Amino acid sequence: MANNISNPLRQRLPDGVVPEEEITRVENRWVAIMLAMLAVMMAVIVVTGITHSLHPPSNVETIDPTTLHLRGEFAESNLGTAAEPDGSVTVRLVAEQYAFVPDCSRVPVDTPVKFRITSTDVVHGFLLPATNVNTMVVPGFVAEVRTSFSRPGVYSMPCNEFCGSGHHGMWAKVKVVPKDQFTQLASNERTSCAK
Ligand code: CUA
Repeated sequence: MANNISNPLRQRLPDGVVPEEEITRVENRWVAIMLAMLAVMMAVIVVTGITHSLHPPSNVETIDPTTLHLRGEFAESNLGTAAEPDGSVTVRLVAEQYAFVPDCSRVPVDTPVKFRITSTDVVHGFLLPATNVNTMVVPGFVAEVRTSFSRPGVYSMPCNEFCGSGHHGMWAKVKVVPKDQFTQLASNERTSCAK
């Protein structure tokens, strides 16, 4: 009993009061559970991100949305698919209320494809269902997404950010064609399947 009085943790407590060491034990257990949950969630994010090649829209590249149609990379004559010297292709698109320009992009199958897209007005979304392509298109910035298509077909490309009264009708297409059907153009020439 003398020992219990000298140690304040061992003193007899009134009914309903939990000893401090018991509180510490429970708190430590919950801290451990919280850290384990955090570790599991981080692992899920990292593993799914790597296995699906998902990446956040991290391309911080600015552009003046008021003049992009006049000159430079996003002038109308420069839009569409361009074959690069290394065999990959770059697709340049402009999103505006309520259309993508061009509204159909042709790309070859099994080829690295880089999409570069920007907006002239409000925030739009660029999504290709069942691929890793999903990014916001923010005026003033160039969004860049890399992917490749393993089978030919027509992929729908809905705008997936609410951008105004015509948002629901804002669609475009990506047409993935066999390599030999992809017109082999000299670099700097552009192609699209828009009518
Ligand atoms: Cu553009 Cu919704």
